[in-house]
Amino acid sequence: MAVVAVVGCAAGGLEELLDGLIRPLVDHGHTVPVVVTPTAASWLEDLGHDAAIEKVSGLPVRSAPRLPREQSPHPPPDVLVAAPMTANSTAKLALGLADNQALTLLCENLAVKPTIVFPRVNAAHARQPAWNGHLDALRSSGADLVYGEDVWPLYEPRQAPPARRLPWQQIIERIESNTGSASS
Ligand SMILES: Cc1cc2nc3c(=O)[nH]c(=O)nc-3n(C[C@H](O)[C@H](O)[C@H](O)COP(=O)(O)O)c2cc1C
Repeated sequence: MAVVAVVGCAAGGLEELLDGLIRPLVDHGHTVPVVVTPTAASWLEDLGHDAAIEKVSGLPVRSAPRLPREQSPHPPPDVLVAAPMTANSTAKLALGLADNQALTLLCENLAVKPTIVFPRVNAAHARQPAWNGHLDALRSSGADLVYGEDVWPLYEPRQAPPARRLPWQQIIERIESNTGSASS
C-alpha cells in the first residue's frame, strides 16, 4: 500500500473527488493526503466536502502552506495524482510556478515520484497557443497524462454532455500501475 497524494483544482468534477477517487483509494488500503488549490478549497468548503474528505482520509485537507516552524501534516507521497487539474494549474506546473501549496507539492515531486495528471480542459483551453508546449514539457519530465480523445474528448465550452463524469476508473488504473496494486 502506498501514500497517494491527491491534488484537486477548481475544475468541473471536483465535486466527485471524494467518491470518484479518494474513497476508492482509501478502500484499496492507501493513505490519501489531499491538497487543493485555494480556489478549489473554497469550492469544497461551499459544498461541505472538506470535512467529509478529512473524515474519509483521516488527514487534514491542505490548501495553505505551513509556517516555517510547523511540521507538514501530511506524509511524503509515493505517488501523486492531480485530478481534476485546471488549464491554469497545468500551465503553472509546466512552467514550475509553485505559488500555492498544491503546485508546491507537484513541482517538488515531478520528475522524482510517479505523477499522474488529468487536465480537465475543454477545446478552448486546448487552443491556447502555449497549451501543447505545456503538455510536452510535462510528458518530457515524466508526468503520466490522462489525456486524449479516448479518455476525455474535448468539447467546446458548455457543449459537453451534462452527465459526463470524470474518467476516474482510468485515473485509478494509472495510479495502481504505479503502486503495484490491482485495480477494481
Ligand atoms: C463553474 C466553473 C467551472 C470551471 N471549470 C473549469 C474546468 O473544468 N477546467 C478548467 O481548466 N477551468 C475551469 N474553471 C476555471 C478555473 O476555476 C479558473 O481558471 C481558476 O483560476 C483555476 O484556479 P486553480 O488552477 O488555482 O484551481 C471553471 C470556473 C468556474 C467558475
